[in-house]
Amino acid sequence: MEVIIMPTEEKATLLASRLIAAQIRRKPASTLGLATGRTMENLYAVLAEMHRNDGLDFSLCRSFNLDEYIGLPEDDPNTYRSYMNKHLFSKVNIDIRNTHLPHGNAPDLDLECEQYENRMKECGGIDLQLLGIGRSGHIGFNEPLSSLASRTRAKALTPVTIAQNAPLFPRPDDMPKRALTMGVGTILEARRILMLATGAEKADIIAKAVEGPITSMVSATALQLHPKCTVIVDDAAAEKLQGKDYYHWIFQNEPEWADYR
Ligand code: GLP
Repeated sequence: MEVIIMPTEEKATLLASRLIAAQIRRKPASTLGLATGRTMENLYAVLAEMHRNDGLDFSLCRSFNLDEYIGLPEDDPNTYRSYMNKHLFSKVNIDIRNTHLPHGNAPDLDLECEQYENRMKECGGIDLQLLGIGRSGHIGFNEPLSSLASRTRAKALTPVTIAQNAPLFPRPDDMPKRALTMGVGTILEARRILMLATGAEKADIIAKAVEGPITSMVSATALQLHPKCTVIVDDAAAEKLQGKDYYHWIFQNEPEWADYR
């Protein structure tokens, strides 16, 4: 795992966007694993700007999102499908037929999850998986006690997650209490992982995810097992990390990061 600490949220978001852009330029037919949440809204705005101003070309990209709420019709404004259409897919030249999210209102959810995993495999697996982190330590919707070997499946959401996300619904009580999510095992198969976390409210969970022991109680700790995972945080989210000086030193000295400093 590598940890990169940027002084501001804006700079952290820009760095994450530049790494995604570099992936797409290196391999135009990349399969991207995408995430939702407030943190990603700014990142998608930067990617849309890169498309508009610098010709960043999504035309050959495929995408698979981490998760989707169960039980909402696909065109409900609160689905992650609607979120993705609004913040990214409508703003870049990705072919909408190449964008995938699990269908949270499928009649047979187990079958839907199995087919979602198959579609990912048929597309050659995820080249770059983007991740946020929930206050419960979840990646995707892998709530505490999710098996570190789990695959795409239905999960009940914890009260912490419901409290975090319900305010995004016009009527908070309407927030579904279950979701389909890629499993931790699914996520770990991505060739490269990029986590972005900003703001003081993420400081405790980032410290646990990066420096804590690996445990299914905090599914993000499983990222410590991944051979190529980069965690980008701003100063506020890095506040509780013990190894800050060391992480800065690596970023300054590692040739891989020369273009990004
Ligand atoms: C939701 C998503 C997670 C995401 C989290 C972070 O719960 N399922 O994948 O990491 O939101 O949200 P925010 O960026 O709003 O803090």
